Amino acid sequence: MFDYKAQFSRYYDYVNGYLISFFDKIKKENPSVITDAMEYSVMNGGKRVRAVMCLAAADLLGVPFDLVKEYCVAIECIHAYSLVHDDLPAMDNDDYRRGKLSTHKKFGEANGILTGDALLNVAFETCLKKPDFNRFDARALYALASAAGFKGMIYGQVLDLENESSKELKKEVLYQIYENKTAKLITAPLLIASELAFGKYREELKEFGYHLGITFQIIDDIMDVEETFENIGKTPNKDEKEDKLTSIKLFGVSGAKALAKEHYEKCLSILKNIPNSEFFVALTEAMYVRRK
Ligand code: IPE
Ligand code: IPE
Ligand code: MG
Ligand code: MG
Ligand code: MG
Repeated sequence: MFDYKAQFSRYYDYVNGYLISFFDKIKKENPSVITDAMEYSVMNGGKRVRAVMCLAAADLLGVPFDLVKEYCVAIECIHAYSLVHDDLPAMDNDDYRRGKLSTHKKFGEANGILTGDALLNVAFETCLKKPDFNRFDARALYALASAAGFKGMIYGQVLDLENESSKELKKEVLYQIYENKTAKLITAPLLIASELAFGKYREELKEFGYHLGITFQIIDDIMDVEETFENIGKTPNKDEKEDKLTSIKLFGVSGAKALAKEHYEKCLSILKNIPNSEFFVALTEAMYVRRK
């Protein structure tokens, strides 16, 4: 019988093992405060959902792990960079991340900025150094770059900051923020695997990633108000303190829960059209029940 937890652990261990040797190598070859801070920012915990999704999508589409391992590192480095910068005083001003001091609190603000920049660059360096990098890799890397950039995660972060203390409470704006700041980097690992499988299930995976990303961000909002520091590893009630435009601000906790349920159900209905997607069904469930 299919065992989600065992399968998740298998993917997680593969990713983590590769990340450990990756940072050991770059620290050994280039010892500096910046390689220490890069390692700290990625290896300080984290669920590794995006890298796990990349491996699971590779499995689903018949792409060997060996062909996506660099992308797993890249996606976790880009995600970690987005968190390092998200926590900076000029952005969300958070002192804690994954239960530990945020990178700028541990290494100083300038190093926090530079660490984020370095993690973004190393993501591309790593993928471009992949043996036999081919035109499908170029498409995969483009999918990752555009998901993270000015029309992706960065754009979402710009809108998120622009809408702090906003009096204009619009659902369309909330969706624009969540699609860009969160859903695009959740979708990227799926698109990477799809590109390496010559575009297989590209549209279905894109739609699934969108709804999973929206569900994921709404659950993050709910956990911000309902959870303890011990459980989320970041300061609770931060969104209200920064007066963020969130699903909670717009719809209240029960409204946000109802909205998360809608997107969760949409994920499951999309997955019905993708054969052998039971891992993603279980992952969607696991992300949703964190705070349904
Ligand atoms: C946090 O992402 C930022 C959001 C998009 C809500 P994760 O919840 O995946 O963070 P880690 O990697 O597990 O710490
Ligand atoms: C995170 O949104 C989106 C990113 C691109 C980092 P949040 O600001 O809600 O993430 P947390 O709650 O700090 O992890
Ligand atoms: Mg933020
Ligand atoms: Mg934040
Ligand atoms: Mg949050």
